Amino acid sequence: MESTRKQLIELLEKEEGHISGQQLSQSLNISRTAVWKHMNELKKDGYEIEAVQRKGYKIVSSPDKISTNTLQWGLDTEWIGQHIYHYDQVESTQEIVHQMAKQGKPHGTVVIADEQVKGKGRMARNWNSPKGKGIWMSILLRPNLPPFQAPQLTLLAATVLAKMMDAHKNICPQIKWPNDLLVNHKKVSGILTEMQAEQDQIQYVVLGLGINVNQDLNDIPQDLHHKASSLKIESDEEWDIHETVQNILRLFETTYDHYIEEGFEEVKHQWEHYGYRIGEEVTISTMKRTWKATLIGIEPDGALRARDSEGDEEKLYSAEIHWGEGGYHA
Ligand code: BTN
Repeated sequence: MESTRKQLIELLEKEEGHISGQQLSQSLNISRTAVWKHMNELKKDGYEIEAVQRKGYKIVSSPDKISTNTLQWGLDTEWIGQHIYHYDQVESTQEIVHQMAKQGKPHGTVVIADEQVKGKGRMARNWNSPKGKGIWMSILLRPNLPPFQAPQLTLLAATVLAKMMDAHKNICPQIKWPNDLLVNHKKVSGILTEMQAEQDQIQYVVLGLGINVNQDLNDIPQDLHHKASSLKIESDEEWDIHETVQNILRLFETTYDHYIEEGFEEVKHQWEHYGYRIGEEVTISTMKRTWKATLIGIEPDGALRARDSEGDEEKLYSAEIHWGEGGYHA
């Protein structure tokens, strides 16, 4: 069903003029009535379709509103997004993907919503997910990896988001350890990774991506203005959510495949390229002490590497970092 509709859109988009019901029914090997039913479904998705007697059908405009169809149309990926579930409103896309994982849905399944009413952030925080303003999306992954490598998937996702932002608009994204995306020192995106694992094997990972895309300043709670922003605010342009989702999925697939084949090296390199305050001095505090150190990169286990004034290196897992001017505390 889903793939017939996808083929139907492809046929309609390919044709300059009108394409007859007869031709569509032959090419898709379905009845004229089935063609007509699919047309009605497309209209419900927001496609404007012109039907002219004796000439046939033509797509006049594609919808702004995202839907499973519009997201899949033109998405030339091998495995990611072969199954996309779009909802107008959910509590959290994370929970839906957990359920789907338990039902056996495949690697690469994507759940996306226009709005989340109980969006989850890291460390049990809420994630503000207003309607139509951002990308609230969770991806189901079934990697053949041991659990200790799971943090690498989060770091990988952060590099994908950074590259996507870097490639498409005139803004400079940075990744604040462990996985916040910043633009001009303000957070525009966060990643929540949840995993189900046995002792030596990941069963599945739910990778949640939250991206503030088209919020204006007054869509962001006042008390967060100093530290949160959106791609629109920072680039002064409205972003096409549909195109942005597709770009993320394409880039995610190639980056993930490369990582599985070649290992973590390239992700580490990319992460450090975009890393916030890498090569700079920051103040670090733990329960025991506070000291100054230069951030130098990340470890394969996701730890942050810092070098103190004596030249001694340390791996940080949960220290508080004072990011300095313009930044904010983790
Ligand atoms: C963070 O705290 O920085 C992580 C935020 C992750 C938010 C995303 S939005 C899609 C997915 N569904 C959720 O409920 N949370 C994640």
